[in-house]
Amino acid sequence: MTSRRKTAWHKTVDGGDIVWLTLDVPKSQTNTLTVAVITELSVVLDALTEAPPKGLVVRSAKENGFLAGADINSFAEQQSVDETYAAIRQVQDIFTRLEALPCPTVALIHGFCLGGGLELALACDYRVADDAMNTRIGLPEVKLGIHPGYGGSVRLIEAVGVFTAMNIMLSGRALSARAAKKVTVVDRIAPNRQLERVVRDVINISPKKQQTPRWQRVLGATLLRPLIAFVIRRQTKKQANPEHYPAPFDLIELWQKQPANRQDYFAAEALSVAKLIQTDTAQNLVRLFLLQDRLKAFGKQSKFKAQHVHVIGAGIMGGDIAAWCALRGLTVTLQDQSAAQIAPAIKRAHTLFKRRFKVAHLVQAAVDRLIPDVAGNGVAKADVVIEAIFENLEAKQALFKTIEPQLRTDAVLATNTSSIPLESLAECLKQPKRLVGLHFFNPVAQMQLVEIVHGKTTLKKWQKQAAAFVRQIGRLPLPVQSSPGFLVNRILMPYLLEAVQMEQEGIPILAIDKAATDFGMPMGPIELADAVGLDICLSVATILAPSFDLTVPSNLDKKVSKKQLGRKSGRGFYRYDKHNKRIITSLPTDYADSGTIQQRLILRLINECVACLDEGIVDDAELLDAGMVFGTGFAPFRGGPMHYLQQQGVETLTQQLERLCSDIGSQFKPNSGWEDLS
Ligand code: NAI
Repeated sequence: MTSRRKTAWHKTVDGGDIVWLTLDVPKSQTNTLTVAVITELSVVLDALTEAPPKGLVVRSAKENGFLAGADINSFAEQQSVDETYAAIRQVQDIFTRLEALPCPTVALIHGFCLGGGLELALACDYRVADDAMNTRIGLPEVKLGIHPGYGGSVRLIEAVGVFTAMNIMLSGRALSARAAKKVTVVDRIAPNRQLERVVRDVINISPKKQQTPRWQRVLGATLLRPLIAFVIRRQTKKQANPEHYPAPFDLIELWQKQPANRQDYFAAEALSVAKLIQTDTAQNLVRLFLLQDRLKAFGKQSKFKAQHVHVIGAGIMGGDIAAWCALRGLTVTLQDQSAAQIAPAIKRAHTLFKRRFKVAHLVQAAVDRLIPDVAGNGVAKADVVIEAIFENLEAKQALFKTIEPQLRTDAVLATNTSSIPLESLAECLKQPKRLVGLHFFNPVAQMQLVEIVHGKTTLKKWQKQAAAFVRQIGRLPLPVQSSPGFLVNRILMPYLLEAVQMEQEGIPILAIDKAATDFGMPMGPIELADAVGLDICLSVATILAPSFDLTVPSNLDKKVSKKQLGRKSGRGFYRYDKHNKRIITSLPTDYADSGTIQQRLILRLINECVACLDEGIVDDAELLDAGMVFGTGFAPFRGGPMHYLQQQGVETLTQQLERLCSDIGSQFKPNSGWEDLS
């Protein structure tokens, strides 16, 4: 719903002299704190300060929420520290004037209330939130490489105490209405239909504010601060490397060294954010945020909306895809060769629903949406049919032949194949242009990316509908061309094989993994291979090897022959205890990394990225970066592999590849795509 009005804020006064100030940013589906919104708010506050009403309610007219935060596009604009500081101070000043109004003020929250949105709500005396599933309240700034800057860090700590506030700000997670009420970020929650009544009550009664527990207030005492900051810093270091992600640590330092005067504290907060915005980390994270929007836009090219999904193959992937779709509210029929083969998937789904929903009736509703269907009755009714049976061309083709005549004419027909070219699969179909790949990653509930695979002839219509479906289930669609390994697995494979090769050469696995995590990868390649399963790695490597001239190190084959398959078998390159936890070992004390491990890993990966781009597997370097970050967790603060390449320079990296090629082996030969780049 977008408004035709030109102004963002609309003021109405009711019979009880309460001013209802409604935010409805023109020409936008979502409210953000644009310059116009801020400037207009300032003018509105001038009038309210002159003639205060009985009470003020700040709310939103948008369906999707209250306020999603600052205008992120503005972060990407190059400004000096001084300019950014001045702009932040201006917003702080306006929020302080809101806070200082002599009448009770209430933020009425529904849907998104994030970042600057929550900071504005925190400047009100009270916060009342819609007790609905889609209410999301939080300060996610650390995810963009900064921390709250509009007075939010100061006010949240005052409101809920340092431990709770730091937990919210350092994790960047969004809270449900109930969770926010529990930790007193909001004062009242109510069902939507009662919100206005509750707001009026709050204004009329002006209830005493909930107090932060005494122990939390004591922790803020000057003398204790260094100790508390030390504890929080130590915890935070387990999640983020300060060299890669400075914002969380600057936030802790800001609190620890806070000036005694509150206004000076606001100024210090603003300066800290103004400096952080300039860092490469923040710029790269903002870039990725915008790239995420680019991926989301693929889902908006069609109005397709599925209600019923039919999944064939209830194994690891099919079972988890079905569970995820049911979790997201779709009716799902799940087919396999027998009920016994479906049962484990239903059990896993139940665990997922319990973990996500917590509330019994929501768990039950999701369970009810997931229907075992050995007979395959769902094929003829579904809006989307996803094939996820064994990775075998003949088996898949036989299945397609049986189901094609039963499909609804408007149903999306998709395969989750990870390696078979779409063209070969589609050969058996009467309408081969219909088949599209929906390549989910394992584990489905955690991996954000889904590759939308198109063959040479796949009709655009089906690709767009597939992308819309992926958005509908809250995932990020990335269009890729059908080619062995598609994008993500193809790029990951040389990187994993190089790691295995180094192990074969006698380099300690801990050193290999450390080189990758030092670079910023979420886990090392050896640990990743163990987690994926060495049998799966070997099978994907064997499929990709002939196409890309890959040598598969013999130790991988040996491990698989000895049934050392990785975490799932208790032993792979690492050993695991009976709870599947890695048995901790340490690097030999006399081992020194000569510095080439990281180079070998990263350059193999980047060399493959260049090849994929050259072959047009994805449309451009930005999409490749998005795919690698959201599909593999490639060091987000570096902005993606192609962005890293640009920052390092084509010439520098080509020279490094050529040197490794002569020192180590031909796997480092720069592919022809580098010439175009330079
Ligand atoms: P899986 O072996 O765990 O499950 C396959 C299931 O399909 C089995 O339960 C089997 O009984 C069933 N099945 C076989 N033929 C059938 C038929 N004609 N009708 C109904 N059910 C049938 O396999 P997994 O790992 O789930 O892989 C499935 C597909 O997903 C494969 O194409 C694979 O390449 C792809 N994939 C796998 C990933 C992984 O990490 N395992 C990641 C991404 C894609």
